[in-house]
Amino acid sequence: MRSFALFAVLSAFLSLPDVFAVKSHDFKTCSQSGFCRRGRALSARAQEAQSSWKSPYSIDPSSIIFSPDEAVVSASVKSSLYPEIKFGLELRIHEDGVVRVLMDEIDGLRQRYDEAAYWALVAEPQVSKTVSWTTGKKDLRAVYGDKKEFEVVVAYEPLRVTLLRNGKEQIVLNGRGLLHMEHFRTQTAKETTEEVASDESGEGQEVLQVENVRAWFEGENEDDYWSETFSKWTDSKPKGPESLSLDITFPNHGNVYGIPQHATNLSLPSTAGESPSYSDPFRLYNADVFEYLASSTMSLYGSIPVMHAHSADSTVGVFHAVGSETWIDISYPTAKSTQTHWISESGIMDVFLLPGPTPDDIFAQYARLTGTTALPAHWSLGYHQCRWNYVSSDDVRTVQRRFDEEDMPVDVFWLDIEYAKDHKYFIWDQKTFPDPVEMTNDVAANGRKMVVIVDPHLKRTSDYPIYQEASDMGILVKPTSGEGEYEGWCWSGSSSWIDHFNPASWDWWISKFKTTKLDKGFSWIESTEDVHIWNDMNEPSIFNGPEITMPKDSVHYGGWEHRDVHNINGMLFHNSTAAAVRARGDIPKRPFVLTRSFYAGSQRISAMWTGDNLGTWEHMAAGIKMVLANNIAGMAFAGSDVGGFFGNPEPEMLVRWYQVGIFSPFFRAHAHIDTKRREPFLLDEPYKSIIRDILRLRYAMLPIWYTAFRENSVTGLPIVRPHYVVFPKDPAGFAIDDQFFIGSSGILVKPVTEKEKTEATVYLPEDQVYYDYFTQYAYRGANKGKHITVPAELHQVPVFIRGGSILPTRERPRRSSPLMKLDPFTLRVALSKAGTARGELYLDDGVTYSHEQGELVWREFVAEQPQRKTTRISSKDLASAKPERAVDGVALAKYDPKNAFAKEIAEVRVEKIVVLGLSAKPSSVKVEGGKGMELKWEYVPGVAASEKKDGSASVLTIRDPKVLITEDWAIVIS
Ligand code: NOJ
Repeated sequence: MRSFALFAVLSAFLSLPDVFAVKSHDFKTCSQSGFCRRGRALSARAQEAQSSWKSPYSIDPSSIIFSPDEAVVSASVKSSLYPEIKFGLELRIHEDGVVRVLMDEIDGLRQRYDEAAYWALVAEPQVSKTVSWTTGKKDLRAVYGDKKEFEVVVAYEPLRVTLLRNGKEQIVLNGRGLLHMEHFRTQTAKETTEEVASDESGEGQEVLQVENVRAWFEGENEDDYWSETFSKWTDSKPKGPESLSLDITFPNHGNVYGIPQHATNLSLPSTAGESPSYSDPFRLYNADVFEYLASSTMSLYGSIPVMHAHSADSTVGVFHAVGSETWIDISYPTAKSTQTHWISESGIMDVFLLPGPTPDDIFAQYARLTGTTALPAHWSLGYHQCRWNYVSSDDVRTVQRRFDEEDMPVDVFWLDIEYAKDHKYFIWDQKTFPDPVEMTNDVAANGRKMVVIVDPHLKRTSDYPIYQEASDMGILVKPTSGEGEYEGWCWSGSSSWIDHFNPASWDWWISKFKTTKLDKGFSWIESTEDVHIWNDMNEPSIFNGPEITMPKDSVHYGGWEHRDVHNINGMLFHNSTAAAVRARGDIPKRPFVLTRSFYAGSQRISAMWTGDNLGTWEHMAAGIKMVLANNIAGMAFAGSDVGGFFGNPEPEMLVRWYQVGIFSPFFRAHAHIDTKRREPFLLDEPYKSIIRDILRLRYAMLPIWYTAFRENSVTGLPIVRPHYVVFPKDPAGFAIDDQFFIGSSGILVKPVTEKEKTEATVYLPEDQVYYDYFTQYAYRGANKGKHITVPAELHQVPVFIRGGSILPTRERPRRSSPLMKLDPFTLRVALSKAGTARGELYLDDGVTYSHEQGELVWREFVAEQPQRKTTRISSKDLASAKPERAVDGVALAKYDPKNAFAKEIAEVRVEKIVVLGLSAKPSSVKVEGGKGMELKWEYVPGVAASEKKDGSASVLTIRDPKVLITEDWAIVIS
């Protein structure tokens, strides 16, 4: 339940009998949305007509034009229903094989919104210079790829675009004839037609016939063309109908993933009545859905219109750069094929076909389009303690003290909206937070940070400088009339919203976060560079708006309607904030910004969380799937509220939730204002100690996480990876979304998300040994996959190391992650059945951008068997070997292993090496090239990696191997 203060405000304003019941009925279903209804009706008519259905859209072959280098082809498209309306189609093949298909109305009454890609793309993609097109009688073709394996075929009549690989259809656009770009028209057109129809000349009859011809395709009625009412709101739709319907078929792929954010299985269920199934399409319309369902196709806070289609043969993807509300129907006509139907309210068609053919290729192709996550501040991978609200600066200090007394590591304390006087963000409530700078400094004294909320709604009062300045500058979103300031209700009561599409807002917003006094205007002198930012409610959430958001006919910069940019809007807010946080000091530091709303491209700078989940087991499980779905859609720095936002989880549930949390890229506990305090130090034993151990495990594994973030920042490969990504050829893993891998580390996790569980079943996808992380028990998988049952008492979380991996960890408990900077490392060498292993470690200062100047350490660890009975474990400098791959976006020409950062950690040693799965007790363990001195080691016999059986693995522990983390070395075990 929301706070009582808010209840009073809202019930007075909304005069709703029960404001707590804002649930599904606050949000449209497809049948309540005019353009979605029209899109689905079109599809139903097509289905009924079966083979007699024919798309009215065609290309005029005489209009085909090539760019001078032949890379871009464009053509006129006509619809037989509206021969007078012109459409333009353009195809570009990018250097990496991605095909971009654009379609727009040409010389129409108005312009369709065409800037979604501008906001989403990281740069203008390079178009291939080597592709050449051939025009035929019926179609236009291009063959490309290293082995000429790809082909794009554009059929003229009806218009159809097909991407093939090795002659096999991968992606088909308009194969089902559902393409429909509603053109701009004037409202009187139909009335005029009817008038003409009733005259005596006979012309009218002709027009009527045309109408009938159109009706088979568009339907009899102008269904909600010119205005639309939902509940008590009317959307004025001044531009009339302009929706875009497009079918995208994957004839040879039986699984689709992505299009976050929804609380559903990762492998997306059908919306067409097949089982398991939903009845409404997946909706992308950023929305603050109060008490959202743990299983639903309803919209949530963010939208990324990217989809993967997968089979054991190949993976392909589509990304549709559209910013308006979009519904997507999915059906599986056979187990091996998928049909999808995308219906968007406005905007041009701007579809990118990602040819794959592997999941890793798709990640690279999508990353080249929309970017990767910039390497975050290292501390932001630690544990974040949040609640709505820590009520005073003394409260913050007490919470910090209690963590320290209980030896529980934590990096960040958070402040929700109650720090701000009357919810005027930036303005501290002097009564409760009289000393914000001192409070922050007290937190920072332990290496910690604060994250403070700044929401987008600005209280409309002249004594609030942020609002007043924005108002004076005319940079607030405008109402339907296009004049004045749009006004709505949120936490701060009557509020307005900055239009971040207006470039005039950008530098101004940056200046608000400066921690020094400005010549003119407000700056946040009551904050320090240790304060980072949480952007919430940026869908935007507006309590008295239609579907709890901004009316679609509100007006943004450039005259665009909110409808055109709704899904992009939240991204502009958090991007502007991140730019501001980065620009605060003399030395730029990596900003941390958490956002609730997001779009394609949001991943470049911000972390996200899954919003207001419920403290239920279902939501705990759903959170894992949602984090995976966001990861495969590029939004890698993701997590869900540990503990559940609503409710008071019992200790068992809380423990399990922390076990989920430590295996999420973003790890934060959060709770609603009406919940009981539940910081981990408040728990009784054994729960308290279990959670302490869980927190410590997260900290021990920080090198693994940070290394995974580096990889993600360069390659786009997800930080948490579902089975189909790691084992794309294993159909048994395609639907698995309750266990996953962390980066390329080889860690496999299956958190327990059910009550009173003492065992878990885990799927091992290959004939390889998997070691229990804690007990070193070796489980041997099988060629066609195998399920194992493992102990999972409350203090146990099933974590495995895939044979063939080397894991770097830091196992000294500390209060916060910056205090671990000089701590020694442990290396776990988990031998594969072939007796080999490999791992990586990436380190830098974790705070500044000095890594972009090559101040970093990037190591590769390798275990191999140069001879029978000899295992050699070595460490080598990967940054020198691959300087161009070390840092995202910066091609270090050369790398200096003696850089300033490497020097700072020059003394950091490896304190322990644990080798799992050796086949026999060694007779000697020595540093290669050393003085021949035997190292200190002990050996516990057990199952060897090469043995085809389960049992406690053999464990060799080498203590203090006398090697440093920044140096090249080898240890020989013989
Ligand atoms: C909604 C957010 O989702 C939640 O995390 C936050 O605590 C409240 N807004 C109050 O700011």
